[in-house]
Amino acid sequence: MQGKYKALWINKNKKLEVIDQTKLPFEYKTKVLNTTDEIVTAIKDMTVRGAGVIGSIAAFGIYVASQEVKNYDDLQQKANLIKQSRPTAVNLMWAVDKMMNYLKTSTNLINDALKFAIELNDNEAIQSQKIASFGADIIEDILKQKDKKTINILTHCNAGWLAVIDKGTALAPIYEAKKRGIDIHVWVDETRPRNQGTSLTAWELEQSGINHTIIADNTGGHLMQHDMVDMVITGADRVSASGDVANKIGTYLKALGAYDNNIPFYVAIPTSTFDFDIIDGIKEIPIELRSENEVKYIKGVAKDGSIQEVLITPKNSPAINYGFDVTPARLITGLITEAGVCKANKEDIKEKFIDDNNSICGI
Ligand code: MRU
Repeated sequence: MQGKYKALWINKNKKLEVIDQTKLPFEYKTKVLNTTDEIVTAIKDMTVRGAGVIGSIAAFGIYVASQEVKNYDDLQQKANLIKQSRPTAVNLMWAVDKMMNYLKTSTNLINDALKFAIELNDNEAIQSQKIASFGADIIEDILKQKDKKTINILTHCNAGWLAVIDKGTALAPIYEAKKRGIDIHVWVDETRPRNQGTSLTAWELEQSGINHTIIADNTGGHLMQHDMVDMVITGADRVSASGDVANKIGTYLKALGAYDNNIPFYVAIPTSTFDFDIIDGIKEIPIELRSENEVKYIKGVAKDGSIQEVLITPKNSPAINYGFDVTPARLITGLITEAGVCKANKEDIKEKFIDDNNSICGI
């Protein structure tokens, strides 16, 4: 793949270029990120977002930073800045640590940083294809069991190729199922306050010709009660060693609805989304608190075609904006990973991902 992925790429001038996700679905624009500060800002303001892609940008961010420093110690300081740009998606910390570990003995930081960032991201792309395949097998099974013509899948936020190189996580099995000729329809949660469902997931699905319907966030429960949802698949930003899942705010309520209605609830993740140092996700996973303005203002296209942001609340009413919540493992049917599907519990996760020396397998 040579550093060329769908959501970001190394351009012909060897610069990091990304799709500006804050402009979608209204405009397709790209941005070149030239400095560590620009990388940090792009992660914070969500020019790039989604756990996997945040990790990808962080890895290439070390390459960008390596061009600003004279030695490894200076690079470590830049690495720390990148690591602090958002708190919940563990792929960010994972990618920076992987890069810095690899570069410890490097005698050519710039060349080696580029080489290893490409290696890590090529690997993400391979993992995403494996997740696609394991997930599509589950979709096929559910379709057979239910003896239905169309399968209805509900997803929350965006866990497609804009979020994880190069097919996504939650959307990867959906893309693969379509390739296998399965008749599929996706319920797309709008995902307030930033509307990643409405603006990003719907955009991705539309581009791929996948049937979908956008729903207000509170609609899922009603659909589930009326047999209109066969399966839920989401991505995750961090998964604890016992299978608790941090994902976009509102995921927990969908999992409760699915549990109450006996609907399979799957979470698709690459192994880099596990945080094996954390057991109790609810108590221990740091939850991002973002600006209240993301709740109070909404962006859209005005009648004259201009893109505008408008206030939708009383001017002085306060708002609060937690970015993520944690779904306890007991509500999750299974974790779809590149290594196969496993139950969301300590024993299964340990068996699949931790070897006899207590080391993490494969990552
Ligand atoms: O705040 P975001 O848009 O970065 O949050 C994204 C999500 O919550 C995704 O569902 C999650 O990252 C899984 S996809 C890797």
